[in-house]
Amino acid sequence: MSKDKVQIFDTTLRDGEQVPGCKLDTEQKLVIAERLELLGVDIIEAGFPVSSPGDFKSVTEISKLVKNVTVCGLTRAVKKDIEVAADALKYAKRPRIHTGIGTSASHIKYKFNSNKDAIIEKAVAAVKYAKTFVEDVEFYAEDAGRTDNEFLARICEELIKVGVTVLNIPDTTGYCLPEEYGAKIKYLTENVTGIHKATLSCHCHNDLGLATANSIAGVVNGARQIECTINGIGERAGNTALEEVVMILRQHPTLGLDTNINSKLLNSTSLMVSQKMGMIVQPNKAIVGANAFAHSSGIHQDGVIKNRETYEIIDPADVGVNESSIILTARSGRAALAYRAKIVGYELTKVQLDTVYQEFLKYADTRKEVVDNDIHEIIETSGINLKALN
Ligand code: KIV
Ligand code: ZN
Repeated sequence: MSKDKVQIFDTTLRDGEQVPGCKLDTEQKLVIAERLELLGVDIIEAGFPVSSPGDFKSVTEISKLVKNVTVCGLTRAVKKDIEVAADALKYAKRPRIHTGIGTSASHIKYKFNSNKDAIIEKAVAAVKYAKTFVEDVEFYAEDAGRTDNEFLARICEELIKVGVTVLNIPDTTGYCLPEEYGAKIKYLTENVTGIHKATLSCHCHNDLGLATANSIAGVVNGARQIECTINGIGERAGNTALEEVVMILRQHPTLGLDTNINSKLLNSTSLMVSQKMGMIVQPNKAIVGANAFAHSSGIHQDGVIKNRETYEIIDPADVGVNESSIILTARSGRAALAYRAKIVGYELTKVQLDTVYQEFLKYADTRKEVVDNDIHEIIETSGINLKALN
């Protein structure tokens, strides 16, 4: 079955970089942009050009650097922002301007002290103006997650009339439930005249831990672009994690959706972004956390040693991790000890293993983890007459 492509819009360098303390300089951004191109993302949101000279420079330099990826610059629905973004993008082979405005009742009332008709007017004017500079114009309806669907459909329809290419439906506050977000996308596909002329995009924040689930609900219901960041970094609880949505689509072929991402580069890309931003990845993070392929309980270790698939749904090699790791702790069983002892050079008979295991348990009870060097000491202390194989 040929699969529908979901475009990966990476916003690590824009929304991701809005994390306090994670500011990158242009050189660092260029290294990451080069890596994102190699990874296979379709669009790089390189910054918010009007926001600072540094962001302007980064967008300009990334535009010169990358060859096959669309480079995108963020703007508000403000003429000056659009002009500056167009200028920053002038060297891009495939430039995209990403403009938008808040559409929820609270944004319209408190942020803009405005009304729905005036918001539509501003949105249309911004897209029209951006189209005078570039063909590819994406519009974000900020706080779309809390915007009523009827108004959202109205604004989308007006924007399609003036040539918008991508309609971004952000769950800016991470409020939506997956069913709700999926239904929102479905409503737009069914109620906006001309919707086939634009791509619907999911941009989900993780305030309730639902960003990934919401993005998947979005594409299942007709969206064909996901906006995400490496390691899920971003404002507050972060954005949708790129590595998660990519691997969900890959591990569930029945969804009939895939991306252009080379998943074997996911782990090293995660490490690179984490190091450059000085932002550690939680060890239990899906796909790229240090423990994502580590097994420490005896029952799981026994299963994985017999057949990896008993407790792993992803082959670690598919995301660039060399192998599953069998971590020795006080909860490990004989199978894990024998497995690790063999790796460090000891082939133990059943009787020897019984003796060494008793020593191992005493040792492991005093430690969080038993490492390779400890195994030599345990075997020596256990008193069995055995030489390391190497
Ligand atoms: O979360 C959001 O609404 C955004 C927009 C600026 C796209 O980041
Ligand atoms: Zn965002």
